[in-house]
Amino acid sequence: MENDKSALKQLLESGEFRRGDDPGRKTVDKVFDARTLDAIYEVMKRFRVDIIDYPVSTGKESVVFRAVIKKKSIAIKIYKMSTLGFNSVREYIEGDYRFEKEKLSRNSLVYVWARKEFINLKNMEERGVKCPVPIGVHKNVLLMQYIGTTLKPSPQLRNVGHELVANYFFSAMKQYKKMVEKCYLIHADLSEYNILCYRNNSYIIDVGQSVPITHPMARDFMKRDINNMIVFAKKMGISQSEIEIPEFYYNWPDEPKKLIRK
Ligand SMILES: Nc1ncnc2c1ncn2[C@@H]1O[C@H](COP(=O)(O)OP(=O)(O)OP(=O)(O)O)[C@@H](O)[C@H]1O
Ligand SMILES: [Mg+2]
Repeated sequence: MENDKSALKQLLESGEFRRGDDPGRKTVDKVFDARTLDAIYEVMKRFRVDIIDYPVSTGKESVVFRAVIKKKSIAIKIYKMSTLGFNSVREYIEGDYRFEKEKLSRNSLVYVWARKEFINLKNMEERGVKCPVPIGVHKNVLLMQYIGTTLKPSPQLRNVGHELVANYFFSAMKQYKKMVEKCYLIHADLSEYNILCYRNNSYIIDVGQSVPITHPMARDFMKRDINNMIVFAKKMGISQSEIEIPEFYYNWPDEPKKLIRK
């Protein structure tokens, strides 16, 4: 199978991720456990992924790869089972009515987290917020539109050139306003790291932790999001008078529940 020759497989077999004390062991405690590898192979079959290419980002809690389906680039985000902090993540799931019935265990948590990011992206896409279009989710593996060119992924807001940063900043705040007012979702980790800049538009990414406005902490999360952005604007010398702020910043709804159609 052509897939087996993918860069991912090569990477895994190169020994880079292999446990030093057990060279025969194929799993990769540090990066992927056996269940994750199974999930990746299942995703490759189910979504007919031709190639999993290089890692675009290797973080503490996830790895993002560029991959190819029918000659089109996609992004595959793989949550690491072991490092997703149980308690830090629980707060964002337990107050979210969409996951009320979910029984959380150490094992299921990461799957719920991946599904949560998928559902949030779907909601955003449907209401016209610029974000990676979600393609599918299986266990701890999320497939979505790739934001970038074949040569390189789009830069985060913190890395765009000085002459472009203000425009991308305003574009990001416009998308954030839409996310709050149209999707009734609060990002809850908004910063210059979670905004990608592509062809004059800002795309909001990394929405696993995003919660509906009915979450008990939603208002605080929104204030923190906006504060992060204002701190960044100040640092970059971006004029603050032009920043679009969600209406809820000034008038938080008395009964957020009524706004959400289940
Ligand atoms: N759809 C995408 N297209 C292109 N690049 C992406 C896409 N999604 C993520 N990336 C790249 O991968 C990086 C990490 O993604 P993301 O912010 O979703 O994960 P994360 O949860 O912050 O991971 P960690 O905090 O563990 O690094 C992004 O900053 C971006 O550079
Ligand atoms: Mg991120």
